Parts: sequence; C-alpha cells; structure tokens
Amino acid sequence: MEKIVSLCKRRGFIFPGSEIYGGMANSWDYGPLGVELKNNIKQAWWKKFVQERGDMVGLDATLVMNPKVWEASGHLKNFTDPLVECKKCHNRFRADHIEGKTCPDCGGELTTAKQFNLMFKTFIGPAEESANVAYFRPETAQAMFVDFRQVLETSRKRIPFGIAQIGKAFRNEITPGNFIFRTREFEQMEIEYFIKENDWEKSFEYWLGEMYDWMNFLGLKKDHLHDLEVPEKERAHYSKRTIDIEYDFLFGKDELYGLAYRTNFDLKNHSTSSGVDLVYTDPESGEKYIPHVIEPTFGVDRSVLAVLTEAYCEEEAPTTKEGETEIRVVLKIPKHIAPIKVAILPLSKKEELSNVAKEIYKEVSRNFFAEYDETQSIGKRYRRQDEIGTPYCVTIDFDSLEDKKVTVRDRDTMEQERIEISELINYLKNKF
Ligand code: GAP
Repeated sequence: MEKIVSLCKRRGFIFPGSEIYGGMANSWDYGPLGVELKNNIKQAWWKKFVQERGDMVGLDATLVMNPKVWEASGHLKNFTDPLVECKKCHNRFRADHIEGKTCPDCGGELTTAKQFNLMFKTFIGPAEESANVAYFRPETAQAMFVDFRQVLETSRKRIPFGIAQIGKAFRNEITPGNFIFRTREFEQMEIEYFIKENDWEKSFEYWLGEMYDWMNFLGLKKDHLHDLEVPEKERAHYSKRTIDIEYDFLFGKDELYGLAYRTNFDLKNHSTSSGVDLVYTDPESGEKYIPHVIEPTFGVDRSVLAVLTEAYCEEEAPTTKEGETEIRVVLKIPKHIAPIKVAILPLSKKEELSNVAKEIYKEVSRNFFAEYDETQSIGKRYRRQDEIGTPYCVTIDFDSLEDKKVTVRDRDTMEQERIEISELINYLKNKF
C-alpha cells in the first residue's frame, strides 16, 4: 500500500490535499494523471450503463437539496454509525470496526456506543440559523427519486428503466482512512433501476451480473472479488436485500461496491412527504403502482484504488546493458482507461529529430491522449511511462529520418516493433 501511495504522489496521480498548509487529514487531490484515470473510469461507466442502453437515462442534480428530502428518505434519523470514545486518550472509533471494549490505541476504557449522524451540515445564505440548515447529499441516489416524475415525463421511458448519476457525496465519517478508500468527500456512480415488485429477484441477479462485467472491464480479477450477503440488522434502513461486493485491498478485504433492493421505500416516502403523486401508470394495462428499485452503486475512488492495486507490478527486466537486469515497476492498467495512451519519445533533442517527432505527436494526439517527452535517457523515459501505465511508447530515432519508420514499444511485453510512420495511427487504433 505504501508503494502505491508513494507512486501516486511521485508521479502526480493523487497527493495530499492542502499540502502547503500542512495538509488536511484524509483529504486527497487527484493530480494530472489521477484526474485522467478517474475521468476515463467515469466516462467508460457512463458509456456502458447509460449511452449503450435504451433503458437508461442520466441525471446531474444539485449537491445540496431541500432538507425535506433527507427527512423523507430517513437519512436525518437513520444515517448513523455507532461511535465510541476512549475515556483516556479521547480518540474516537466506529464501534462496529473494533473488537473488544478497550481502546485499540492506548488500551483505555471505551464509552458505550452512541449513534452519530453522518450528514454534512451547512447553512444556506448569510445567517447561520436553524431555519437555514441544509445538508450536502450523503448519496447521489435521492435525486433520482425526487426527480423521478420529471424524468419519466420528459424521457418517456417505460418500466423497467433506470436513472444514472455520477457525482460527489459527503459523509462525516468517524474514521476515514486507508488512502482514498474512506474519505469524507467522495464520488459515486449510481443507478436506480425502476421495476415492478414481482421482478425484483430476477432484476437483482441481472444487475449483479452487470456489475461483474464492469469489474472485469476494469481488470479486477474474479479471485479478488467476494460477495457478502449483508445480514438484515446490518443493512441500510431502506434495504430488503444487500450484497456488498468486496475486493482484496492491500489493507484487507473490504467493500468496493454495493447492490441493494430498496423496495419502493424512497418513492413511497417522497410521495407522502411532498404530496406529489409518484405512482406509475402502465400505458398498456393501465395498472397503477409505485415502482420498486434495484440499486447498483459504485464508488469512483474505490474503483481507482482497486484498479491501481490490481495494476501495480514489480518485475525483473533487462537493462540496456547486456546481461544486466533491474526491477521495473509497471502499472498494467487496462489500456482503455490508462491516463496516457501513447508517449512520443524522440531519441535526441536535435532539431532534425524533434521536428519529425512533433509532427507525429500532433497527429497522434488528434486520436489518443498522448505525451511528448524528449528529456532524460530513453531508459529513464521508458521507466516513467511504465510507472504511469502508458500502453505504447513511440520512439523516433535517426533511422526514422531515412526509413520513415518508428519503434513502438508495448508496455506489458516490452516487445518492440518497427512501424511505417504513415501506418502508425491505424496500427495504434487496432491496438485499442
Ligand atoms: N446509495 C447507496 C449508497 O450510498 P453505500 O454502500 O453507503 O450505498 C455506495 O455507498 C458506495 O459508495 C460504496 O460501495 C463505496 O464504493 C462508496 N463509498 C461509501 N462511503 C465512502 C467513503 N466514505 N469514501 C469513499 N467511498 C465511499
């Protein structure tokens, strides 16, 4: 884990937030490569679950919603974790995350557990009065219920159909930690899939399969994934069945994603609280009912962490010196989500080479996110591209001026191929 955190910092994937002010505990910023990786994951998810399907539509709602939403959804009352405090060192812990009755830090006695609400409170407008209290959303899900009627009317979808959203969520976690695994501000990609009650079991199984398809696309090995059937007393207040999909993170097995059957709990409560009828009328049979919901939910940051964990490799590789080997660090990120797809590396900074290389760079970047790098030895440049997971390096050497060919190096096999410059774009397109 330390190696991954250090690589992320060194290469500009993820670094501590507000660092020049001494940082802020458990806040992490995505740097130039991290934001590419994260965006690629989000875009691929959107393409797979929204754009490639006829039964899904997207939404992008506000982070701060009318506080009545959280009353109706049950979050103000039920969105809590059990908190214990050490009577000696006053450190605080989640009671369900520790074993025994003594402090894991100093061995002191712990208080009895009390329920702590995780909602992030704020005030709207200039006066900090109770009338102005509002909350940052703790899940993106609620907007999909609150806007259900508008989406239904404008998109003219019929049940079964789903609404998807990607965005930030906020939780005042008692014990954030493990890098970007548990933070107070994070991103979710969520689907609320609206169905008829009788179809819930079939739909639940179907979505579990879709989630595994997605994890396979991210390169996560099936052996590293585990379904946890969440027992009733540990399920969220709205859920009748939940499976947590756990991943073998380097700090232990823990929740990556979740799949829940939310019944019609949310639409029913919003209908009652708002006084707006959220009943669906089947256009063919005329049957009226409040739809039930299957919710596959995906943490974006946990996706990034799982992808990095799975991709990180150290392997023995030959150096440029005959017979010598070294340990190379390589991020074998699936090609389609790698931050940079192609690196253009002229062997020398001499103008005759860099002119050709820059032309190639211009052409390649019209098709792929590419990087141009002419500093340092070629060995060091390969090492950097391996460490940031760039699938292909294109080297331009003095022979290129004569034979109009470049060398393409494959990140995973380290094999090199000579390719006609005029064929390069097609060659790369076939690789992705
Ligand atoms: N709408 C349902 C819901 O929010 P959840 O299991 O509480 O369910 C969904 O959260 C996903 O969001 C989790 O599976 C996880 O990937 C991610 N997540 C939850 N809390 C998080 C946190 N504090 N930091 C990072 N990701 C988190």
